[in-house]
Amino acid sequence: MRFITKLSVVVTALFVASAAFASGPKMGNLENGKNIFKNGKGDVPACVSCHGDDAMGSDAMGTPRLAGQGYPFLVKQLEDFATDKRMDTTMFIMNVNAKGLSAEDRRDVSTYANSLSKDNTAPSDMKEVKDLGNAVGIRYLGKAIVTFGDVDRGIPSCYSCHGFNGRGAAPVYPMIGGQKYVYLVSQLKKWRDGSRANDPMAQMQAVAKNLTDEDIQNVATFLTSAPRTTMGNARVPPQYPH
Ligand code: HEC
Ligand code: HEC
Repeated sequence: MRFITKLSVVVTALFVASAAFASGPKMGNLENGKNIFKNGKGDVPACVSCHGDDAMGSDAMGTPRLAGQGYPFLVKQLEDFATDKRMDTTMFIMNVNAKGLSAEDRRDVSTYANSLSKDNTAPSDMKEVKDLGNAVGIRYLGKAIVTFGDVDRGIPSCYSCHGFNGRGAAPVYPMIGGQKYVYLVSQLKKWRDGSRANDPMAQMQAVAKNLTDEDIQNVATFLTSAPRTTMGNARVPPQYPH
């Protein structure tokens, strides 16, 4: 009897722990988040001015899509900017923005960004990307790396962590499929040269160190317009995005 009681305590503890993990950090206040996103707060400018009204990002400004990016991931990035674990090397814009918000505001604004158009895709316009002066890659070569990696060159498949076509695997692995081209390229170069180093167990730095410039352009060319669902199955798995 005593054994069974002990066992049930252990089982309950495990259940509580896994429930806490599955739901991630507690969601914030959607209305306050929306207000910050659209109007800014104090010295912090409106997020829409750089990330766009629909939070889909911009190649011209080099900003990422935030819409539907997963609440735990967004909160983590804002915390990392606020504590300088992640440096925005273009004039520290995001470090200043994140520090200008309270921890509660950062959770609120992440709640709002996560709530936006999860299934929407807004692939980069590759003509615009070229006109902006960026080199672009070859889509099918990028698809091969995303799907299979390149074992001989020590490159794991992106699929293995980021899910099918990079659609994301919450709470740790962000959506990279449907992300903006210019942002994908800039982040992969930052992981490669170590100027972005906020990844758990240096996972992304290990991936990026073996990528050439061409590999980076190829994967980004595929990922920005990668379909989020497999043929014949239009359902995105329930665990992501959320
Ligand atoms: C002046 C332009 C600008 C404004 C305003 C701005 N951002 Fe950013 N944001 C950027 C840039 C540029 C990056 C990419 C930084 C880098 O390369 O590391 C970024 C990156 C981010 C990221 C990282 C996303 C990812 O996928 O890793 C988050 C989260 C973010 N911004 C949230 C916000 C929020 C919330 C606001 C409003 C409070 C905001 N930003 C306002 C320019 C801006
Ligand atoms: C071993 C697991 C793993 C593999 C394999 C992997 N990644 Fe990642 N990646 C991560 C993690 C973890 C993060 C989030 C790091 C953080 O918290 O900032 C990440 C983040 C990223 C980001 C930044 C996203 C953003 O919004 O800021 C990009 C871009 C990226 N990965 C591209 C790739 C590509 C391309 C590949 C395949 C060549 C790949 N990753 C393979 C683990 C992985």
